[in-house]
Amino acid sequence: MKIHLAAPRGFCAGVNMAVESLEIALEAMGPPVYVYHEIVHNQYVVRTFRSKGAVFVNELIDVPEGATVLFSAHGVAPATRELAKQRKLTAIDATCPLVTKVHLEAIRYAKQGYTIFLIGHDGHDEVIGTMGEAPEAIILVETEEDVDKLDVADEAKLAYLTQTTLSVDDATRIINRLKARFPELKGPPKDDICYATQNRQEAVRLLSDAADAVIVLGSQNSSNSQRLRELAESPDRPAFLIDGPEDLSVDQFQADWTVLVTAGASAPESVVNATIQWLEEHFDATVELKTVREEKVSFPLPKPLRQYAK
Ligand code: F3S
Repeated sequence: MKIHLAAPRGFCAGVNMAVESLEIALEAMGPPVYVYHEIVHNQYVVRTFRSKGAVFVNELIDVPEGATVLFSAHGVAPATRELAKQRKLTAIDATCPLVTKVHLEAIRYAKQGYTIFLIGHDGHDEVIGTMGEAPEAIILVETEEDVDKLDVADEAKLAYLTQTTLSVDDATRIINRLKARFPELKGPPKDDICYATQNRQEAVRLLSDAADAVIVLGSQNSSNSQRLRELAESPDRPAFLIDGPEDLSVDQFQADWTVLVTAGASAPESVVNATIQWLEEHFDATVELKTVREEKVSFPLPKPLRQYAK
C-alpha cells in the first residue's frame, strides 16, 4: 500500500492558538479550568484536556461564580460575554481572529441597516455566535433552495457573510444564487471561508484523484472535516471520516491501494501518526508526503495568557 500524506492538513492557526491557550490556562491557573463548549470540535482533543482538568460546559450557569472560563475557537455571542460578566467570571477569549472578523462584519452591516444573509449550518457554534451579534438583522441561509424562499423588505440593503468552514464549492453556488436574485447584494471580496479550510480542501481536490480511498482524521461534529470527506468521496472512491485508527477495519482497504490521508483543522497530528502506523502494520504501507501549499499563519495568544507563554 502507498500512503499519500496531504499537506497542509490538521491544526490551523486558530486551533493551535485555542489549544495552546487551554494548555497554558491549566498550567498557570491549575484545574479546573472551565471551557464554554468544546475547545475545538475534536473528541481526542476534548478527552485529553478533560483528563488534565478542563471542564467543558454547554451553559455558563454550570460555571461557579468567580471562576475562569475559556471561550472556544468558534466564538460566542455578546449575550454570552454579558452573562459571564454578570456571573463575575474571568473570561479568556480564544476565539479565532478569522471568526472575530466575521462578527465585526456582521456588526458593521447591521449598524448600517443591512439585512445580512449568513451562509452556514444551523446549530453550529460559530453560526450561533455570529447570529448573536445582530439577531434581528441576520437570516441563516443553508442551501440554494433557501435562497428562493427569502422574503426581504428592502432589496437595496442586503449583504452576505459566510461561516469560515464551509465547502468552497457549496458556498460559491449559494452566493451566485443570492447575487442572481439580489443584484445589489454586498459581501466580502470573496467569502469568509478561512485560509485553512480553503487550503485543506484544495489539497484534497488535487490529490484525491490519484487515490483509491481517502482517510480524513476528524470528528463527526467538525464542519471542515465533514466537508473534506464529502469532497474526497466519489462513487468509486470511499472516504472515511474517523477520530483515529480504532474506527478503521482491515476489510475497508486492499493491499495494493493508494490511500490519501489528511486531517481536518481540529485533528491533532498524533491521530494522523497513529493511523499511518495502523496502515503500516496491516498493509506494509509506505508514506509519501504530498505538499500542495505551505502555511505560515499564526495567531497571538489571548492577552491575559501572554505573560505565561514560554
Ligand atoms: Fe480559524 Fe479557520 Fe481554524 S476560522 S479556527 S483558522 S478553521
